[in-house]
Amino acid sequence: MSSVPPAAAVPRIARRSTRTLVQRPAVRTDEHRDLALNPRDVHFDWSRLPMHWVPQEPLATHTMNVLHLLLPEGERWFVRTFREALPLITDERLREDVIGFIGQESVHAEAHQGVLDLLLAKGLDPAPFVRQVEWLFHRVLGRRDDPTGAAGRENLIERVAIIAAIEHFTAFLGDWVLNAPGLDRAEVDPMMLDLLRWHGAEEVEHRSVAYDLLVHLDPSYLRRMRTMAVTGPVLTWLWVRGVRFLMLTDPELEGRAKPTWRAYVQASRRGLLPGLTGAARSAARYVKPRYHPTQEGSTGQAVAYLARSPAARAAAR
Ligand SMILES: [Fe+2]
Ligand SMILES: [Fe+2]
Repeated sequence: MSSVPPAAAVPRIARRSTRTLVQRPAVRTDEHRDLALNPRDVHFDWSRLPMHWVPQEPLATHTMNVLHLLLPEGERWFVRTFREALPLITDERLREDVIGFIGQESVHAEAHQGVLDLLLAKGLDPAPFVRQVEWLFHRVLGRRDDPTGAAGRENLIERVAIIAAIEHFTAFLGDWVLNAPGLDRAEVDPMMLDLLRWHGAEEVEHRSVAYDLLVHLDPSYLRRMRTMAVTGPVLTWLWVRGVRFLMLTDPELEGRAKPTWRAYVQASRRGLLPGLTGAARSAARYVKPRYHPTQEGSTGQAVAYLARSPAARAAAR
């Protein structure tokens, strides 16, 4: 697959219906403000996917495979939480964005589920790790009380704040994968690369929805900082555990290949994984008082990729 066109190559963006726009709390570009979020009903056939879909790079493959371990349950939790939040939204425009977000995340979860099924068929059973992820999103982060009561509302807003922090990272990863020619040079499996770039592009498209919902429900800077202070380290810990699990369980590696930070840095220098410094800098930008997700990534570049993504084009037919 050829690399993604630069942000300047922008096709016509699907625009929402004309309506009075509500004042937003931070900077938004015109292209982003007018964007209507729509799910794309994509499908992937993984029957010919090799175990190491970044050729000869098991660490890069499994570092990105952690997405498939976390996202089906994680994104279903996003959907449940945002559905709970819908009755609390008094801004019609934001409500429209949240409904679009729910539609996109629902499709993402199912798209990644298909890869889990393929891993199992190849002898790598992801169930032990996925059960822990299910426990996290159902038991630890599940709904506690009726969200119309004070305790339930507080719990719901806290979960929305955690999702806003996670969405900062998914937008970072989306922007990275759209600008990662190293993946093209490495001849990554084209269908997997399309999955990553289609998903990444939609993450960039809807990157401000969770943050805008959080600000709508509670503009507190303290909550945003507190939830990022927990979410960033927990996400990193989950990712490291996920890579270790996959490398250890991969029947083709027979437990011989050990993941190390040194190997990660080397793979990132080859353009196969995001750099650690870039990720840390991105997390630091989230703590700026005037942060807004539209300051990260390019809506135009995301829409340009979605216009040429094989899976998105097939879904549009
Ligand atoms: Fe997603
Ligand atoms: Fe997302």
